[in-house]
Amino acid sequence: MIQNKPITNVLSLPELLDKTLLTATEPDDIDREKLATILNRYSFAVIRGIVDPNTVLAAKQRFTGLYSPDNDRPATGEEPHEIMDNFQKLSIGGAEHSGVYRPRCMRTFYNPVWADDLYGLRKSFILTAQTRNIIYGMDINFAIDKVEDGFWTAARIHHYPAGGGFLVSHVDDVVPVVQKAEGISRYFQPLIVMSKKGKTDDCDFETGGGFFEVNSERYYYEEVCELGDIVIYSGATIHGVADIDLHKTFDNRNCEGRMAGFVTIYKHFERKGQLEQYVGKPKNKY
Ligand SMILES: [Fe+2]
Repeated sequence: MIQNKPITNVLSLPELLDKTLLTATEPDDIDREKLATILNRYSFAVIRGIVDPNTVLAAKQRFTGLYSPDNDRPATGEEPHEIMDNFQKLSIGGAEHSGVYRPRCMRTFYNPVWADDLYGLRKSFILTAQTRNIIYGMDINFAIDKVEDGFWTAARIHHYPAGGGFLVSHVDDVVPVVQKAEGISRYFQPLIVMSKKGKTDDCDFETGGGFFEVNSERYYYEEVCELGDIVIYSGATIHGVADIDLHKTFDNRNCEGRMAGFVTIYKHFERKGQLEQYVGKPKNKY
């Protein structure tokens, strides 16, 4: 019998990984029924074998070689078409422009699949976006290499710098609102694990990192995941990024810290300010 009830007892992180790990060599190989069962029960799943760990390793080397703080753009104010190309922004602050108060310190490197493949991640982004489409029950290639029905895939890297990079714990309520208004009701966010947490030589940071919470228990998945794992979590669960390596001095000139890849479906906006028609004016003002 399929168990669809949410889990209620507390599991250790290795136990949770053991119950939520699926392997597949390509998106079409994913056991969809099993994945749905896992997501319904744990609000979390890991798919291993689709994105090549060596590709992620090579991408990080290329990223480090290309990185310059001189390319940072402000947290807001760009034209919608600018993030549909290679585009780097530094977000520090409460992000009220997004419609909610959501403090953060992070960089975003937009890298859509039609832009120059700066990091060698194009294939990995496509495979992850296909995985996303399978989760949503959409055509496997929907809105990946072109704008389709007003949507596009915002392939990008999030970078949380050592010395305090973070994203406050939250549930997703901006992107899901837009998607729901446009007919997509399910919201599961797939991300590509690009960093490992720990003290060994293959790790990128020691403290903090990506987390989600189930039954008030916080799980730092980069303690057990491998590079290239596709982590899927429900936007309805509390998640965020805890302060990265506070024992280090924040240094704008280097790009140490934590990285993750995303392939979120974005609404195609023609001009600035269109997001407000979906999310209203910023809330949580103090
Ligand atoms: Fe989120």
